[in-house]
Amino acid sequence: MEKSFNGKTVLLTAGPTYEPIDPVRFIGNHSTGKMGFAIAECFAARGAKVQLVAGPTNMKAHHGGITVIPVTTADEMFTAVKRLAPTADIWVFAAAVADYKPKVVADRKIKKAGAEFTIELVKNVDIAAALGKEKREDQFAVGFALETDNEDSNAREKLIKKNLNMIVLNSLNDPGAGFKHDTNKITIIEHDTTTAFELKQKSEVAQDIVNLIWERLYA
Ligand code: CTP
Repeated sequence: MEKSFNGKTVLLTAGPTYEPIDPVRFIGNHSTGKMGFAIAECFAARGAKVQLVAGPTNMKAHHGGITVIPVTTADEMFTAVKRLAPTADIWVFAAAVADYKPKVVADRKIKKAGAEFTIELVKNVDIAAALGKEKREDQFAVGFALETDNEDSNAREKLIKKNLNMIVLNSLNDPGAGFKHDTNKITIIEHDTTTAFELKQKSEVAQDIVNLIWERLYA
């Protein structure tokens, strides 16, 4: 049976965020957006309308059902997500949002001076957690977690804290998984179930995630 998302709207975040230090520098991370874009293609192929809020990435969306909303910073991502969240049935937070941003952004290029240089950072908004507070009964939220230790319990803590229905756990302990790889090994954690998957291509991992969401919502 075709696991269709016809008539459903999916809001997705993907990619890194860049937090400016001055006009030429930023704090970022190695996220490529590959996983988020693969999930977007998968939902769109099954009939969903996809709103993909993406940080700086070289990835392109192919399916006509995907609208990309490009953003740079966590604050911009949050603004876009807040606007789109109420009309979406499913939220998937696949972005690697920078946890901190420079407290002050210099309006001119910072010149080098002494041997040491300190940048003061302040916490960014937690997009998934903020949205979790507004989630309705009819909405379904999925987060990601990248852990190196106490994987299961850390992921469960995030599931509860961010009011998610499902968390996709990527373990850095698995060879071939994570940033810069085309493959990923995930475990999907829900309040009462844990499902482990084999090491697979990211496009296949996306299918597994989307299949399980479908099962939980419409089976
Ligand atoms: N997330 C988010 N906004 C943030 C940080 C994280 O929306 N400012 C989302 C991510 O997209 C992911 C989930 O929250 O779906 C978990 O992110 P992660 O960075 O692993 O968790 P943190 O809560 O930031 O915890 P820590 O960095 O301490 O592990």
